[in-house]
This record gives sequence, C-alpha cells and structure tokens, in this order.
Amino acid sequence: MKIQVTGNINEYYVQTLCMLFFPGVKFSKTEATESDGLSVNITVTTTENGADATVDLRTEKGEAVCTHHEESKAGAKVSAEQIACGKAFFEAGKKLTGITPSWGILTGVRPAKLAITGLMDGKSKKEVRDFLTSEYLVSPKKASLVTEIASIENDLLAKANRSACSLYISIPFCPSRCSYCSFVSFTSAKLLGLLDSYLTRLCHDVNQTIDCIRDLGLEISTVYIGGGTPTTLNENQLEILLDTITSRIDPSTLQEFTVEAGRPDTITKEKLQIIKNHGVSRVSINTQTLNNDVLELVGRKHTAADFYRAFEMAREVGIPIINTDLIAGLPGEGFGSFSETIDALIKLRPENLTFHTLCIKNAADFAHKRSNINAWHTFNETSKCVDYSQLSAKNAGYIPYYIYRQKNTIDNLENVGYALPGTEGLYNIYMMEEIHSIFAVGAGAVSKMVSRNGSVIDRIFEYKYPYEYLAETNGTRNEEKVKKIIDFYHNVW
Ligand SMILES: C[S@@+](CC[C@H](N)C(=O)[O-])C[C@H]1O[C@@H](n2cnc3c(N)ncnc32)[C@H](O)[C@@H]1O
Ligand code: SF4
Repeated sequence: MKIQVTGNINEYYVQTLCMLFFPGVKFSKTEATESDGLSVNITVTTTENGADATVDLRTEKGEAVCTHHEESKAGAKVSAEQIACGKAFFEAGKKLTGITPSWGILTGVRPAKLAITGLMDGKSKKEVRDFLTSEYLVSPKKASLVTEIASIENDLLAKANRSACSLYISIPFCPSRCSYCSFVSFTSAKLLGLLDSYLTRLCHDVNQTIDCIRDLGLEISTVYIGGGTPTTLNENQLEILLDTITSRIDPSTLQEFTVEAGRPDTITKEKLQIIKNHGVSRVSINTQTLNNDVLELVGRKHTAADFYRAFEMAREVGIPIINTDLIAGLPGEGFGSFSETIDALIKLRPENLTFHTLCIKNAADFAHKRSNINAWHTFNETSKCVDYSQLSAKNAGYIPYYIYRQKNTIDNLENVGYALPGTEGLYNIYMMEEIHSIFAVGAGAVSKMVSRNGSVIDRIFEYKYPYEYLAETNGTRNEEKVKKIIDFYHNVW
C-alpha cells in the first residue's frame, strides 16, 4: 500500500488505521504494490478552531473520499488533527470495504486506558461510554465492555500496594511448537537439553533479584512464572525453582503466586502437588480449544481428554485458582465447535477464563500461509465467537477484569480476562496498568521500573534467547540489571 500524508499526522498512526480495513497490508512511500493496488492519500490542515482532514482511499475495486472537521477541545488528550484524520479514514474505509471496525479508531494495546482515566476524572460510566462512541467511534457493545472492565480494575487498583512490586520468572521452553505461536520458546531436543544449565543460571539470578528487592525495602505483591511452558521443567527442576523462590520471599505480603503451567501434556499430578506445596495460588491449564481436530491442526500435541485430566488433577490437589486460556479464530474452527468449547469449559467452572483472539505474527510457523488464514475464517465468524465467549461468561457469573489488544489480531478483536468475583488475576492487572515495578528474571524477561507516581517507566531488557542468556557465563548482565534498578530507586522512584 502506498501512503502519502500531508499535514501534522504521525505515519505510524495512519498505518494502524490502514490495518483496521486491510489486515496484513505492507506499506510503501512510493508505489502501490501490484498485488494489492492499494493507495491512501491524506491531507490534514490545522484550522483556527480545530482541524480538517481529507482521506482518499483507492483499491482495484474503487475509490472512497471522505472529509471530517474536528473542533479542538480543551483538555483533550489527542490532537484535533489525529481525530479528524481517524474519523475521515473510518468513513472512507467503511464505504470502500463495508467493514465497520468494532473498536472504531481506538488503536493501541490498552483500550481500557481512556476509560480508566475518564472514571478517575469523575466521569460517570455513561459519560465514558458516550465519549468512546462519539469521539473514537467505538461500538456501543465494546464501549460498555471496556467501561465495565475499567470500573472493576479501578476498584482493584485502589486496593493495590503501589509501593510494592511484582516478580516475573521466564521459562521460554516448550515440549513442541504450536503453529500459531510467536513467543520465543525453545522446543528442539537439543535446546531442551539446555534446561538444567538454564535453571542453574535462572536460580542464581532469582536469588540476586530477590535480594535486591529486599535491600530496597520493597514488598512483593505477586509472583508469576510464565512461558513458554513452565511445566516443561521436570518434577525435580520445578522443586528446585520453587524452593529458590519461596526460601527467600515473605509469603505474608504475597497476594498471588501464579504458575502458568500451560500445555496439559506437560502436567503431572506430582508437578501439581509440588506447585501446591510451595504455596502457589493460581495455575493456568490451557486448552485453547476442545476440538481435537483443531488441536492437531495447530500442532498442540494434546487432546481435550488430556486437558480434562490435567484440570481434574489440579482440582484434586487443591490449587485455589485455575485459569484456562482459549483462542477464537484458530484455523479449522468455526462458531459451532468454538461455542461447544465455551459451553463445556464454563461447566467446569475454572475460576478464571482468558479469551484470546488469534493474532497472526510473522514469527509464527503458519504466518507464511497468511492467504490461507484469510480463508479459514470470516469477519462475522470470529466476531461471533468472541461475542459468544463474552456473553456466556457473563451469564455464568464471570466478570471481565482485564483487556488488551495486539497488532495483527483477526478483525482487530480483543483479549479479555474473566474471573469469578474475588479471583481476578492481579499480576495481569498490575502489569497492564503499570501500577508498580515488575522485576523480571530469565531469557526474554523485560523488567519494568515504575516510579511512585507512575510518571516514569524504564524498561530493562534481558537477553532475548536462552542461548544468549547462557553464553554469558559470569552473570554480569543480571548484575548490571540490579545496578540499574538500584539507580532507578535511588534517583527516580
Ligand atoms: C505465553 S502463552 C503461553 C501459554 C502456554 N504455553 C500454552 O500454550 O498453553 C499465553 C497464551 O497466549 C495465547 N496465545 C499464544 N499465541 C497466540 C496467538 N498467536 N494469538 C492469540 N493468542 C495467542 C494463548 O491463549 C496462550 O495460552
Ligand atoms: S503456544 Fe504455548 S505451548 Fe505452544 S509454543 Fe507457544 S508458548 Fe509453547
């Protein structure tokens, strides 16, 4: 797609608008590529009382030109130029493609952000919903969802300890690779052979990081062991990791301790017992779908029966909160089979249900088959699945408590966490809303230092891949991280 912009508009913003109507499109400043024949021409002018935008969209099939005038508003967080451009683009895109994006022109990964701010500024829920529908053209359904989540999050955040912190531990290993996955995760037998050395190095860094947290006088509110698939660790390895963590932290300040176990084919009763014995309060046992044909098609190497078995074992062992992740829009899955999965899962009553929408990233094995992917689903089908999941969860007494969006998600749909009241996954909220620092350990981990009033956020990156992490034998990277953290707390926090 060729993009030409005249006026005070960020080109990246224009690209995100293009992706609302033309997912997967490639951008060029010069020529409309022959294959897509798409071009967009935008002119934005600043006027005395606001901004005027004209958007001209062309494809092989036709052309749509729309204009919009936006008045400047006192205290607005976004410029009149950007809103004018967004609204003109939205109209042109709708006219040309027939698509009405349900999130309107609200881009970015945190759709609840505006609603949270609105409620905190004293707006009523209705005012926030009206603002989202009129200013950002968000559909009434999504505006209600995000306002409800913002209100629940605000209540939880009011009780959160902003002077505490959370600890994230990364296990980027899985027994095999799922074709839709774009996370860094090692799966080959050779790389899985690194697990012992990885664990040794990880435990060293965990100790150093917890000591740093203690020396800074911070409490730890939540611990999250994520992946990859943490239960790729065998029983002995899991015991070593959990001993390392629990021997150094004060359990009395912990609000939540999660192990994202993940794939049912890695879960044994012994591992769950070890997890429970170490005070873990929340595990994820994920199936993504209960349709065995789809599981096989996406290479998940487990069946629905394996999921039920793992879930039952977690119940028997007595882990208080079980979360289950699902994905709407997987290849080969239509509304019929997706809704059966939802119905069956709700009957099991996991405390948390996290509904994702398939996101197609280049790092995923199936990304090169993008054209097939478009044939796997239609807008209405995935949208219907997402609507069904949200409605069913709500009718069954679950509340939506966190939401995020990603680029390249089918139809720009969202990911939403649901919980039975009182069981909300707090780490997810603390991380998303950046209420306090996250100390992250292990390959691919990103520590996020958040100042006391939230105005400064510094990120500290670990090596991305386990082999890089292990190649550095003397552990200086973690020492450097600790120094940066101390510096942040002494000079910025
Ligand atoms: C960090 S992943 C790891 C979880 C665990 N390894 C598993 O697969 O069960 C967390 C969740 O992200 C979601 N996810 C992963 N890849 C995705 C994709 N391409 N699109 C949408 N959701 C995805 C899945 O629901 C997954 O359970
Ligand atoms: S989806 Fe989960 S199990 Fe599959 S490769 Fe990605 S992280 Fe591993």
